[in-house]
Amino acid sequence: MNAAAKAHDFVVVANRLPVDVERDAEGSISARPSPGGLVAALQPVLARRRGGWVGWPGTVGETLPSFSTEDGTTLHPVVLDEADFEEFYEGFSNATLWPLYHDLIMRPIYNAQWWQAYERVNRRFAQRVAEVTAEDGVVWVQDYQLQLVPGMLRELRPDLTIGLFMHIPFPPPSLFRQLPWREQILSGMRGADLLGFQLESCAANFRALGASKSKVRAFPISIDVEPFLAPTDTAATREKFGNPRTLLLGVDRLDYTKGILQRLEAFESLLERGLVDAESTVFVQVATPSRERLEHYRQTRSAVEEAVGRINGRFGSIGHSVVRYHHQSLRKSELIKLYQAADVMVVTPLKDGMNLVAKEYVASHADASGALVLSEFAGAAEQLNQAYLCNPHDVDSIASKVLEAIQHAGSAEARSRMHTMHQQVRTFDVQRWAEQFLKELQ
Ligand code: F6P
Repeated sequence: MNAAAKAHDFVVVANRLPVDVERDAEGSISARPSPGGLVAALQPVLARRRGGWVGWPGTVGETLPSFSTEDGTTLHPVVLDEADFEEFYEGFSNATLWPLYHDLIMRPIYNAQWWQAYERVNRRFAQRVAEVTAEDGVVWVQDYQLQLVPGMLRELRPDLTIGLFMHIPFPPPSLFRQLPWREQILSGMRGADLLGFQLESCAANFRALGASKSKVRAFPISIDVEPFLAPTDTAATREKFGNPRTLLLGVDRLDYTKGILQRLEAFESLLERGLVDAESTVFVQVATPSRERLEHYRQTRSAVEEAVGRINGRFGSIGHSVVRYHHQSLRKSELIKLYQAADVMVVTPLKDGMNLVAKEYVASHADASGALVLSEFAGAAEQLNQAYLCNPHDVDSIASKVLEAIQHAGSAEARSRMHTMHQQVRTFDVQRWAEQFLKELQ
């Protein structure tokens, strides 16, 4: 490690780099920056402080060089090989921690080899950060894939100030204590000076596991609002779906935590009971492919697709599908058109750290049109309490809230609810979230 390599006063470390990786005709790989909400929030700090970002570019077994983005941020790719991908990413991160931290919607798998991979990969991230961060620099670690990094980094570089933010829920002690490696995870997290959680209840769950020197606080994350404000041609978007009287929308990663099946069942029950008219209603469901090799994700996809087929078979007509299902990742500009055109957005996770889709929909309705049906089990429900809140474990609860939202559409009450939520998201945006966390950290 040479002194010149320690270039950055401020370093973000996240499982993923904010890039899209592309392969050209000759097969060589290049990575293009793809700014998401987190980058948008951190961009001013990254630019001001000679920032760096350490993360995985999303390819397997490929070594990419560090490279700089236009604003001068340097991205430092960390390599995952096939075994790391299977055991660290798919295994420990997404088949052990993910279901455990989401209240056991699926059964977590405890596998010692995956744990070793988790340790090994966390160490690789910590070492890379240690190499690129300047003396007395600030490091901000993101999420459940990297919970050991603060502790490892503290040992490698006691001079650094370290923050950790958990984007997903942190479970109550009665669940967390199942984890065979609970002590190691806790001591990894306690390496941070500041531990941020989405909700006060998650922070309390962490505190209940014992004292630590870290400051522990809730910082509910939000979105970069600006891209959602510019009006789009909603009439043209609705036209594409045959100009329905009511356009319902769901947008999720295809994940069992998102409650996509339950939402479809609720819609089916409304059709069955004749409370919603199949001819004049369209439900658009965008399900972004995610973690596709994992069994629980395959099962979820089959169940969702079976429900879509069944509902269209029962209630569609020649030339009209009542559910329009898209198993694909849409560009942000396309999503914004859908958000703005939809009368009712249906967000029904069984458990969710925050749910930024709900905030994106609300941000897209500066004119106070539209309605949001939102799960009580999404972190966003604490801030968007003017939504039609439902219990996603209860299909009747989802159905009755969707119906209420449809029936109230356009009313003064509906407009006032959306206006209040829109103001909330505009005020508490992701820039403010990042500022508050970093102010507290330093
Ligand atoms: O917020 C949860 C999270 O796992 C993030 O860390 C991640 O960026 C996102 O969901 C998508 O998941 P993945 O990186 O597994 O595709």
